[in-house]
Amino acid sequence: MSVVKLARPEIQALKPYQAAEQVADTVRLNANEASWTNGADRFRRPLNRYPEVRPWRLREALAARFDCRPERLIVTRGTSEAIDLLIRAFCRAGEDNIVTTSPTFSMYRHYATVQNAAVREVTTSADTDFAIDAGALLDACDERSRLVFVCSPNNPTGATIKRHSLIELLERRDERSVIVVDEAYGEFSTEASAVELLARYDNLVVLRTLSKALAFAGARCGAALGAVDVIALLDAIQAPYAMPTPVVECVEDALGDVWLTEAERRVADVVAEKNRLSTALAKMPIVTRVWPSQANFLLVAVADVERVLDRCRQDGVLLRYFGGDLADCVRISVGSADENDRLLDSLGKACLHKV
Ligand SMILES: Cc1ncc(COP(=O)(O)O)c(C=O)c1O
Repeated sequence: MSVVKLARPEIQALKPYQAAEQVADTVRLNANEASWTNGADRFRRPLNRYPEVRPWRLREALAARFDCRPERLIVTRGTSEAIDLLIRAFCRAGEDNIVTTSPTFSMYRHYATVQNAAVREVTTSADTDFAIDAGALLDACDERSRLVFVCSPNNPTGATIKRHSLIELLERRDERSVIVVDEAYGEFSTEASAVELLARYDNLVVLRTLSKALAFAGARCGAALGAVDVIALLDAIQAPYAMPTPVVECVEDALGDVWLTEAERRVADVVAEKNRLSTALAKMPIVTRVWPSQANFLLVAVADVERVLDRCRQDGVLLRYFGGDLADCVRISVGSADENDRLLDSLGKACLHKV
């Protein structure tokens, strides 16, 4: 049995777009391309030609990085596109819903709204460090809950789902929901990736990105990993030629050993800076709470949020404010040591004076 049967019927029946054939060392008169290369074209593969419909070498390289078979992975324009593809594939407009936690990454709600799918939210509590409760997520599901989004580490709380809770979700929803674990911040976490559960659970999809740990947000490259038939479904609805040649080439380069080793060192630096920042922040009189975080940011509660935001802005430091349940909180991305010092200076001033 497979969760593919949960997908919209017309998507299950959809045949992939038939693109013009691409064969090396042939005269290509089948795709209305230009026959000349533009002087501004500096890439290994000429830009007068369409890219591969799906970049196979890049798929293999990402599969090696994320430790799965290439057939289990689709390369996407950031994790954002994977979220959109999943919701479009599985949710019938006006009928189905997604389930997720709150607060969490707003993109799940955004794309659910685009697809006219309802959003069921399970509130996590500051008092339990925003622990993700599988029981509450299960209670929120009904027969129309096609997708459960679990962001782990969660943006903006930094909390992760415990392995036994994830397994409970996977087993109890079985073939009734796809459980999507968004691991955009996975490299910063001490917890094992859910990727290692893919072989056991066909209803699991894991999202990964190059935007955070690899410092490649501008390239727009991520991946969804899951059962072969689920990946084939996403493949059928993704735009043909989705990954532009310049992106494919620069991501191939970024996945070379030298740059991966550097990225690993940088991730360790970020984690060390996060710990330094967390300790320094906790000592500030204006800071009332710093939550533990497995990501590259900290969620911090402050005594006077407006004063903090104004002071930082005047000093040229931008923080993220969400309001709502997090009305007295700011999310602080971990920057370089110098940037973090600037933040600490600014907060020190906010402790002393009214702005
Ligand atoms: C939890 C989470 N998932 C996905 C994304 C999107 O990342 P990408 O750049 O891969 O689209 C973000 C971006 O901030 C995020 O916080």
